[in-house]
This record gives sequence, structure tokens and C-alpha cells, in this order.
Amino acid sequence: MFQHVPAFPGDPILSLNEDFQQDPRAGKVNLGIGIYFDDAGRLPVMAAVREAEEGLARDIGPRPYLPMEGAAAYRAAVQQLVFGSRSEAVRTGRIATLQTPGGSGALRVGSDFLKTYFGTSQVWISDPSWDNHRAIFEGSGFKVKAYPYYDAATGGVRFDEMLGAIGALPARSIVLLHACCHNPTGVDLTRAQWAELVAVLQERQLVPFLDMAYQGFGDGLEEDAFAIRAMAAAGLRFFVANSFSKNFSLYGERCGALSVVCADEAEAQRVLGQLKSAVRRNYSNPPTYGARVVAAVLNTPALRERWQEELQAMRARIHAMRGQLRAGLESRLPGRDFSCFTRQRGMFSYTGLAPQQVQRLRESHGVYLVGSGRMCVAGLSVRNIEVVADAMADVLA
Ligand code: LMR
Repeated sequence: MFQHVPAFPGDPILSLNEDFQQDPRAGKVNLGIGIYFDDAGRLPVMAAVREAEEGLARDIGPRPYLPMEGAAAYRAAVQQLVFGSRSEAVRTGRIATLQTPGGSGALRVGSDFLKTYFGTSQVWISDPSWDNHRAIFEGSGFKVKAYPYYDAATGGVRFDEMLGAIGALPARSIVLLHACCHNPTGVDLTRAQWAELVAVLQERQLVPFLDMAYQGFGDGLEEDAFAIRAMAAAGLRFFVANSFSKNFSLYGERCGALSVVCADEAEAQRVLGQLKSAVRRNYSNPPTYGARVVAAVLNTPALRERWQEELQAMRARIHAMRGQLRAGLESRLPGRDFSCFTRQRGMFSYTGLAPQQVQRLRESHGVYLVGSGRMCVAGLSVRNIEVVADAMADVLA
């Protein structure tokens, strides 16, 4: 019956993480998957999250099905965090927001919706992008192509080429953009570049789909949402997938959301209805627990303040690790330029390491990076930074 089913070649990120777990070496270092570890090398449980969970544990109550669109308190908190407390689009009710199983769930529900109503469009992702972007949109039946993005020669963005390519797309093409902390390169657009891009997206009547999985890991919660706020202010209609996996350290709870910015409230209600129908076909309704934790933190001023402080500390620690890795490599390999580590933003850095060098790092040193050379700098800590710098200097020498 199943002889025609081929073996799964594995996922470049999740299968690597499984390999890491199997590795018996004590000094192994996981810089593959995008997970934030603290300085003790542990997955943190944030104090604000723990306090919210203690409150819930005392009063968890029965758990009926949530509505297809998810919990109202969670959805309201998402809108406020993603679009800002003074957002006109939120106030006038012209955003359709759904609670989804993680950012991946948001992308999938969004792509299913788009396939129904923009079925002849093509999807354009950055070159390179998160591998799952292509897989998700192809899974919904789209043809997925790439626009120029990363410039390996300068470590920056090929902005003119990017703008040229996007500016030449047919109307209603779907353009996937990383709102902040670009995955895998760590290279973001400047505010001036976003302004230029927003004008082109608007003029060409394209459909922007912003993925924001790392809000708060770049420059700050508000700063990282700049592109989203700029698009809303310019009057664009667009999609936003956001995730709380990283900024709440709640990976396994699958807390995400999809928001679609519409022309007015009536349109948002129709779009929400069709998104609910896509949810029903996929998984009926989202789970309760994680959303209750996130909503409790975001909607309780004292907990929210504590969460923001903790997130700020995580951001500062990543920043410090970037500086230490750069200094460690520059002292080991004098004359070489490692400024990319401090120029890039968020959890990831594109190291420029070739696949064989990545392989050697893993085999000879137990240091795991994604095959593309992507390093999760949020996995660096005072405990492993010297080991990693030694290992990288070895494969780069
Ligand atoms: C990553 O890029 O490593 C994370 O977003 C985790 C994942 O699901 O790939």
C-alpha cells in the first residue's frame, strides 16, 4: 500500500535539532534552531509567564472549544502589540485577527485564504528566506519565486535590485517580507528603505505578507514593528503573521496570530469569516492554554511591564554575545572582518561559512549551525562563546 511513499529527506532546521539531541558529546553547542537560551544554556521560563501561569493554575476552569478565530482577549492584545496602542486601523475595527497555532499556522491559514481569493497570483519570498516559507505557500498550491535580498559581498541588502524586482511584479502578486530580524540573514531594511518599498507595494497594488516572529529581539517592541505601522499608516491592505514562541519563550504552546488589514470594518468581518472557514478546514479551532498565558501577561499592566523588562534583558544579552563573538574571532584571526556579527539584528547571523565548514564545525567541534551557514546567536552564552570562537577560527583558518 505505501511502497510509493518516499523517505522524508528531513527539515533543514527541525531535523538538525533532532540530530543535535541525539549527539552524545557533552560539550555540544546548538546554534541551529532559532531558540533563545540563557547564559546558563537553559531555555528560560520568563518570570512574567510563570506568574501568569500560577494565577491560571489556581483558576483554570473548564476548557470548552475556543471559537474558530481564537480567544477574544488574546486577539485584542495581539492587535495592540503588533499595530500599536494608537492605531487607527485597530480603533476603527478594520483588522481581521485570528489566534493561530504559532507563526507557521498563521502563514498556512493566510496562504490557504490567499489561494482561494488570489489563486492566480504568485508568491515572492526573499533570497534567501526561512525554508518553511516556500514549503508553506507551495503546500497551499502557489508557485513560489524569490526576489533579490542578501548581498554576500557586502553583508547588506541588494536593495536596488530588490526594489526593481518587486516594482516589476504584476498587480496582486504576494510579497513575503520579514518585518524585523530577517531569518536567516539578520539583515534588515532601514526605515528609509522601508518607506521606498511601501510606496512601490502601494503603487503596484501588491499584497504584502509580513512575517514577524521576533518582535522585541531587534531594537525593541515598537521599533521592530516599524514596517507594519508604516504600511498601516500608508493605507495598504496587507497580512501579518506574528509569533510568541521566541519573545515569550513559549515554543511548544504554539501561540501565534494572523492579522489582515482591510479597507473598513465590514470588509474585515467578511475576511475574518473566510479565515474562520480556512481554520475549520485545517484544525477547527486553536488551543486554549498558551493563549490564556500570553493574554494574561499582555493585558495585566504589572505582568506586561515585567515581561518587557525580561525581553529587554534577552535582547541585551544577544547584543553582548554578538560583540563577544566578533571580538573573539578578530583576536583569533587578526586582519579579518567580522563586523557582520554586530551589524546584523535579532537571533540570526549569516556567517558566510560554506556547507563543508558547517559540517566540520559539527563533526570536529560539536557546534551545530544550519547548512546555509545560519547561526542562531541567541544560543551563544558565556559558557560556550570561547569554544565556539575557537571552533569557528579553526574552520576559517
Ligand atoms: C527557526 O527558523 O529556527 C525557527 O523559526 C524555528 C523553526 O520552526 O524553523
